[in-house]
Amino acid sequence: MLILGVETSCDDTAAAVLRDGRTILANVVSSQDQVHGPYGGVVPELASRQHIKTILPIVDGALQKANVRLQDLDGIAVTYGPGLVGSLLVGLSLVKGMSFRSGIPYVGVNHLEAHLLAIHLEHEVSFPYIALLASGGHTLLYRVNGVGDYVHLGGTRDDAAGEAFDKVAKMMGLGYPGGRIVDQLAQSGDARAIRFPRARFHKSAYEFSFSGIKTAVWHYLKTQQGKEQTVRQQADIAASFQEAIVDMLVEPAIRATLANGVKRIVLSGGVAANSRLRASMKEKADGAGVQVFYPAPKFCTDNGAMIALAGYHALQRGRRDDYHLNADADLTL
Ligand code: KG4
Ligand code: ZN
Repeated sequence: MLILGVETSCDDTAAAVLRDGRTILANVVSSQDQVHGPYGGVVPELASRQHIKTILPIVDGALQKANVRLQDLDGIAVTYGPGLVGSLLVGLSLVKGMSFRSGIPYVGVNHLEAHLLAIHLEHEVSFPYIALLASGGHTLLYRVNGVGDYVHLGGTRDDAAGEAFDKVAKMMGLGYPGGRIVDQLAQSGDARAIRFPRARFHKSAYEFSFSGIKTAVWHYLKTQQGKEQTVRQQADIAASFQEAIVDMLVEPAIRATLANGVKRIVLSGGVAANSRLRASMKEKADGAGVQVFYPAPKFCTDNGAMIALAGYHALQRGRRDDYHLNADADLTL
């Protein structure tokens, strides 16, 4: 079964071709980092305009790279939510048009489900597992019993982990998107240099909060105003901030794993690309006899392959969407 996956939910235009749910024939992404960089965050109107400019070359590029023609496809999968409505509409409208013109069936994919399933693009992981989904828009914890069977365990009360990375990078004048830059800078810093607060909740809850740490970094930076900062000092701030975020992500995930009697944790979403999160989760999980799985960084951040995979499962179960399907900015899982 040959599936084209199309993703335009936020600021990446992405397309991929997947064979039989396991062989990635092409995976093409056009990032809008340069467009949004000057603003320190995604500007929705610019994002949708940029998707309009890049979507056709990206989809054509994926088909060419995979060496397949449109008529060879068995189905097309496209993200229909959650995300920025203007961005979602670009991908969804294109795919509806392609499907209408060619007669090839299409399905709308939930972006969150696609992130959860991304691990299966590269790894054999048996169900059930606990999945931590941490991205620019979400921080969620699920028990995944199988494809289509997701039990919500908890999530963030305020900001997403990725948003905290992006905002702190902006406050520090490091650029956008912040996660990858902070991750790199932190490698030469001391994570114990500054003790930023960790939000903690009742032991029976799987909750996160990242608004307090943003404020704490802001206050710390204010105390440093007017002082010349060395790269080493900047790296210490980045490492200390990152360590606090990582601690707040790791603790509930391990606790959920033990409480559910599950022996596997899967990381997903853009923040799962974070090197310290990957190492710390592994270290703590090893101690608890739990295995940790994480996708390659290109499958943590938004990509078309995970959309094609989620679409593959939907099409296999006989799902088909019609032209009434609308973009849903607030879609949940
Ligand atoms: O999954 P994703 O590409 O898009 C959303 O669905 O939101 O996630 C993007 C987020 C951004 O906030 C970005 O800063 C963060 O993932 N991110 C990282 C790293 N790479 C990307 N955060 C921490 N460390 C990284 N290495
Ligand atoms: Zn995403």
